[in-house]
Amino acid sequence: MILVTGGAGFIGSSLVRHLLRTLDEPVVNLDKLTYAGNLQNLASVWADRRHVFVHGDIADGALIAGVFAEHQPRAVLNLAAESHVDRSIRDPDSFVQTNVVGTFRLLETAHAYWAALPRERQDRFRFLQVSTDEVYGSLDSAAPPASESSPYAPNSPYAASKAAADHLVRSFHRTYGLPVVTTNCSNNYGPYQFPEKLIPLAIHRALAGEAIPVYGDGGNVRDWLYVDDHCEAIARVLAGGRPGETYNIGATNEVANIALVKLLCGILDEERPRRDGASYAQQITFVTDRPGHDRRYALDAGKIGRELGWTPRESFATGLRKTVRWYLDDQDWVKNVTTGAYRDWIARQYGASADHPQGDHSGRRNGNAALSAHQGRI
Ligand code: NAD
Ligand code: DAU
Repeated sequence: MILVTGGAGFIGSSLVRHLLRTLDEPVVNLDKLTYAGNLQNLASVWADRRHVFVHGDIADGALIAGVFAEHQPRAVLNLAAESHVDRSIRDPDSFVQTNVVGTFRLLETAHAYWAALPRERQDRFRFLQVSTDEVYGSLDSAAPPASESSPYAPNSPYAASKAAADHLVRSFHRTYGLPVVTTNCSNNYGPYQFPEKLIPLAIHRALAGEAIPVYGDGGNVRDWLYVDDHCEAIARVLAGGRPGETYNIGATNEVANIALVKLLCGILDEERPRRDGASYAQQITFVTDRPGHDRRYALDAGKIGRELGWTPRESFATGLRKTVRWYLDDQDWVKNVTTGAYRDWIARQYGASADHPQGDHSGRRNGNAALSAHQGRI
């Protein structure tokens, strides 16, 4: 049994699907269902009896202890987090609560559970912390990519909260011997990503005929990795990562935001041409920069390649096109995911006059109804 936290989110749901597809083992999926958690992401595994969904908070120690006692997991993969940088700038509180306090609670509970296991099960147990390249901070254009030994220098409240969590994870290994591994990954993209992040946001707004907002001069650089490649890497680290080690996961695929948005517009021009024949690129609008906006992230992912044989499978060209097609084909998901919270957020972030895809709010209600049904069945 593997315990995944945050498995109703973008990467977590992809990971749950990946684990159920590739391992003959049940998965307990614990998720608080914040605005970013969406049970519709799990539709393809909902009927799989190896998938057990638990609605809960990683900061709820009693609930987590009950989950450990009942399901006796051999591993915890911690993906539960507040994940959006812009939200962390406006409301850092929930980031500290979930990413720091929540991870601490999960560690504390995992440690108590692990300490009582027989030796052989202790040796096999893993606590895998899914972290980010943002903990290394911003790189100059000429700097080498960050390696696992680069110092932490987080700049946003989000990055700082993830860095704090990583340090707590490390301390539980050094102090108590808990077998932990940490992965630091670059920017993910792919299906089911909440449309507050750059790629799905740009697709939405392009299709809706709205401005596509690019922060600052658009020269900020990110290293983009297809989400399924990230999940494959997590599975490799779970299987073969050495306790106490960290592994960078990246695609060596650095792209400036403006170049990325133009690429997206080009794909949309081919896949869903505008009625007036003009390019979606006309909708690109430079807007006020994000405070403290990190200029460049780049990762040296050599270690996971050398030690565990992982390299990404998906090229950026094919991955981006697949992603655009998925959003075009799954407009129903897009509608359902557009909750009231998202609408409020968009209005605050991009101005009250900003038009955006209107949700009917039924996605959330359907999700909760589905949740009750699922819990009743298990
Ligand atoms: P997401 O926002 O799409 O999903 C987060 C999930 O966590 C949601 O389902 C949410 O309901 C759940 N959650 C939030 N608070 C919780 C709590 N207190 N208890 C239980 N569940 C809770 O995020 P994502 O993009 O899928 O990211 C997943 C993880 O990967 C995060 O830890 C993030 O820091 C890390 N990461 C993300 C990226 C990226 O590009 N998205 C890159 C590197 C690392
Ligand atoms: O690097 C890994 C991180 O990538 C993860 O740890 C985070 O959870 C994830 O959200 C992501 O953070 P970013 O801030 O890099 O992602 P975002 O999609 O928000 O922004 C990508 C870049 O695009 C960034 O430079 C900011 C810019 N941007 C973003 C938005 C939402 C814009 O120019 N316009 C926008 O409207």
